[in-house]
Amino acid sequence: MPNLIAPSILAADFANLQRDVEMVNRSDADWFHIDIMDGVFVPNISFGMPVLRDIVKHATKTIDCHLMIIDPDRYVKTFADLGCDILTVHYEACTHLHRTLQLIKSHGMKAGVALNPHTSVHLLTDTIQDIDMVCLMSVNPGFGGQSFIENTYDKVSQLKKLIEHKGCDTLIEIDGGVTNKNAKQLVDAGADVLVAGSYVFKSDDAITTIKDLRAMVN
Ligand code: DX5
Ligand code: ZN
Repeated sequence: MPNLIAPSILAADFANLQRDVEMVNRSDADWFHIDIMDGVFVPNISFGMPVLRDIVKHATKTIDCHLMIIDPDRYVKTFADLGCDILTVHYEACTHLHRTLQLIKSHGMKAGVALNPHTSVHLLTDTIQDIDMVCLMSVNPGFGGQSFIENTYDKVSQLKKLIEHKGCDTLIEIDGGVTNKNAKQLVDAGADVLVAGSYVFKSDDAITTIKDLRAMVN
């Protein structure tokens, strides 16, 4: 499978959301990465269901939805109904992670688990076979435009080993501070999906930035 690029809509121009969604449709990007924040699990609020509904209305690619919210089980059905393809919850926000993963899958979505920078990948030893994708946070979640945490490379290698050891096909996604400076090294360490927000949307030519980033890792 080729390595995938998922532009993070958090860095789009919300006053021109349809324009930016259509730009991603036309680009070499593979997925839309959508960040939902509740102001409790993370110290920021992004946007909620009405905005997601309008994004999905225009998006023609996979919707990869990253929930930074407490007690995500409450909204799993809602996000399925809104058209999410992959629903990622935070390890730190789930008391009964295994149950949450089953719930996500029962609604026809792929199940993702995100780990904060301080959370060890080894905590997934007993659930990795039930996880379609692990999202390694390479910044503290809550804001776009932060600097990449270098320890992420080690975490990717450890997680890749765990996935291979268990013989499963879980994808590894990296989220936060991804640029052309770290993309290749991340993929070489075992990453499959790179989320990029500011690096794409704050560039002069987002289409070219996406094209170059994707070419760099494939
Ligand atoms: C951070 C979000 C990220 C963010 C990435 O909490 O989960 O998806 O949008 O943005 P950049 O690429 O700007 O770090
Ligand atoms: Zn995210």
